[in-house]
Amino acid sequence: MTKIVQTELESYYYHYPAGATIVTTHSNGRDNAMAVAWHTAISRDTPIYLVSISPKRFTHKLLVESGEFTVNFMSMDSGPLVGQIAGCSGADIDKFAELGIKSQPGSQVKAAVLDGAQAAYECKVVGQHTYGDHDAFLGEIVAVQWEPSAFSSDASLDLDAVKPILYLGEDYYTSTTGTVEHKRDLPARTV
Ligand SMILES: Cc1cc2nc3c(=O)[nH]c(=O)nc-3n(C[C@H](O)[C@H](O)[C@H](O)COP(=O)(O)O)c2cc1C
Repeated sequence: MTKIVQTELESYYYHYPAGATIVTTHSNGRDNAMAVAWHTAISRDTPIYLVSISPKRFTHKLLVESGEFTVNFMSMDSGPLVGQIAGCSGADIDKFAELGIKSQPGSQVKAAVLDGAQAAYECKVVGQHTYGDHDAFLGEIVAVQWEPSAFSSDASLDLDAVKPILYLGEDYYTSTTGTVEHKRDLPARTV
């Protein structure tokens, strides 16, 4: 297959889907939520999760003020809400009130855990680094919340029960179709 080589990289990030999460923050009595597709685990021990947030976002201000956030992993059922949360800024409206977002405060942080999330990480910021036009916030995961009905006995997502929401770019989303196993030729599972 002959690949297209592209050096104009304005929208390089749309070539493969990424999980569309909702990151929440809480500062000075104010809750906010935003959609985040740029996120990843970067360490197991200590458990650290990275979210990449533009300084333009209201979330960025609340993150700097509070040093806490949650990452909420959502299903396709929450697609309309994800779109609504992404389509406005906490600088203009109280998203929790106006969009009717149902949530509870985290167990270890004040930032909210959404009722609609199948799993959520509660994080405390341990680092903030600027890369290009975004800031990477590194959060130590201090608690994980998860819905037992959404997970199999080996702690992986039960894809018969849940269709995770993946972001394709612009206003487009997709999900998974099922599970296949690709065994590694390893004596024991190491990761
Ligand atoms: C699916 C999706 C994923 C997004 N991912 C990110 C992201 O990773 N980082 C970011 O800074 N903005 C991202 N955005 C844009 C913000 O979600 C959007 O600007 C949001 O309204 C910001 O809200 P706030 O100003 O209340 O923080 C994404 C938008 C969508 C639709």
